[in-house]
Amino acid sequence: METTRTLGRTGIEVSALGFGCWAIGGEWQGTDGEPLGWGKVDDEESVRAVRRALDLGVTFFDTADTYGAGHSERVLGRALGKRRDDVVVATKWGNVFDEETRTRTGVDDSPAYARRALTASLRRLGTDHVDLYQLHISDADLDRAAELRDTSEEFVREGLIRAYAWSTDDPARAAVFAEGEHCTAVQHAINVLQDAPEMIALCEESNLASVNRSPLAMGLLTGKRRSGETLEAGDIRSRPPVWLQGFEAGSGADPEWLGRVDALRDVLTSGGRTLAQGALAWLWARSPRTVPIPGFRSVAQAEQNAGALEKGPLTAGQLTEVDRILGR
Ligand SMILES: NC(=O)c1ccc[n+]([C@@H]2O[C@H](COP(=O)([O-])OP(=O)(O)OC[C@H]3O[C@@H](n4cnc5c(N)ncnc54)[C@H](OP(=O)(O)O)[C@@H]3O)[C@@H](O)[C@H]2O)c1
Repeated sequence: METTRTLGRTGIEVSALGFGCWAIGGEWQGTDGEPLGWGKVDDEESVRAVRRALDLGVTFFDTADTYGAGHSERVLGRALGKRRDDVVVATKWGNVFDEETRTRTGVDDSPAYARRALTASLRRLGTDHVDLYQLHISDADLDRAAELRDTSEEFVREGLIRAYAWSTDDPARAAVFAEGEHCTAVQHAINVLQDAPEMIALCEESNLASVNRSPLAMGLLTGKRRSGETLEAGDIRSRPPVWLQGFEAGSGADPEWLGRVDALRDVLTSGGRTLAQGALAWLWARSPRTVPIPGFRSVAQAEQNAGALEKGPLTAGQLTEVDRILGR
């Protein structure tokens, strides 16, 4: 397979696999104390994992200012160091947070906040520009979004960002951003268990990249999660918010979801793939526009996920087989 893809209409080239930097932000929380991170992390291991990914040809990294209340951006900036210009860095804005207490306190959809947030992200990342700047308020008001799209165009003219996107699962919202010349992608949830046909159609019609969050269904597609397991208290999956499907409060993975993973095991692990590699291979086969960004928190996960690149996409026949198994 081609191990690179074009990031939508701007022609920015990225490795066909990006790395998602949510988990490496470490612990942070909402105002009711609910966990918003993935539990504790070891920053030195995160740095080694990013550097290993670079060595294995990964050139695309997705983070957000709010992950770990600024910590993920700092760790990513440190890990990239002098190699910053060899990669495409994506981050996000829209959430307001307190870096001291590591608490997300709300959202701000104003253009003035967007500028303040961008300035702060550049400082934490240790760079003078963001390659892909993404609106992180998935359900933002449409009129406000049109204003923020124009603000993003200003940032492009000023050389502060190269392109922008909306992180949303709503194709109608993504279409509003797509009217902007330098809007080049939408970031949305899609994985072999949760297809997103309308969003893929929009990306194909509007020449946008489909940046795939939760490509491993937040760990369900790694084969590691169990029903009845106790996840760490700081792990968002221990107290899943309504949008997080496939996990039950206090009792780990939903058995019904695990049953579907089991049913897919043979097709996904074809060609010597691990289950996680098979889940990424499904996404590459789904459309030439997809760029999965699996999360990671160790060198071993980085190696396994980057190793999916050389194994390439599933075949068209295997895609049909997946749909048959899932009754789609
Ligand atoms: N609203 C938004 O914009 C939004 C929302 C969600 C995510 N995202 C982005 O999308 C990225 C990825 O999505 P996600 O974090 O939801 O989840 P994901 O990529 O579906 O799952 C990642 C998790 O799976 C486990 N894992 C990864 N590789 C593995 C491997 N090879 N073997 C075993 N386990 C492995 C790790 O967790 P454990 O080791 O703990 O099992 C890892 O944190 C995020 O990092 C973030 O950049 C954006």
